[in-house]
Amino acid sequence: MSLDAEKRYAADAAAELIESGTRVGLGTGTTVACLLESIARRGVIARYVATSPETADAARSLGLVVEAFDALDELDLAIDGADQIAPDGWLIKGRGGAHLREKIVAASAKRFVVIGDSSKPVTSLHAPVPLELHAFGLQSTLRELGDVTLRAVGLSPDGGVLADYHGDIGVPQELAERLSSIPGVSAHGLFAPEMVSEFIVATGKTLSRRTLGGQL
Ligand code: 5RP
Repeated sequence: MSLDAEKRYAADAAAELIESGTRVGLGTGTTVACLLESIARRGVIARYVATSPETADAARSLGLVVEAFDALDELDLAIDGADQIAPDGWLIKGRGGAHLREKIVAASAKRFVVIGDSSKPVTSLHAPVPLELHAFGLQSTLRELGDVTLRAVGLSPDGGVLADYHGDIGVPQELAERLSSIPGVSAHGLFAPEMVSEFIVATGKTLSRRTLGGQL
């Protein structure tokens, strides 16, 4: 089975979790694109917030009702992909540059479900770690960060500069704390296991479902 087929398989399983009338956060990326199609096929009527303009446009084109985040406030469920999933549940997200909004949406959801294909689980996290940086004082922030490259893309929807950290990850918690402590870093792509309620990973036609923290 191709990775695309695995994404669709995991996405179908996640779409089943959406109940009518609930408030749902939608991540960003190719796995989430499959999720949007699964939701549209299922025909469940819920209220959605999107983590990127790309997801908002794609969702609306499939007939999903996407609202402003502030109109929904707390979310019942958020579903998103990931770049890497470590055995202890740490994630790297943000290859699509949406990790700031993805983190805000995931943190506001009672239940955060991460979906992926068989390429996403890794034995240990490795660089790059996506970053979103404040434009103000960028050179100073880059100096403090060390091994970082800027992406050759425009600013994020929130005016942030997208970049990638290429240094050692070591202990993810320690790196997450260091990155968070640098004032010029708006968001980093390390997501702690405590944020995640459930992982749904497809390997061929086998779905592995794993719960860690969160409220299930
Ligand atoms: C975007 C993300 C995505 O969830 C992550 O990059 C995975 O993308 P894909 O589903 O395309 O493999 O964090 O900012």
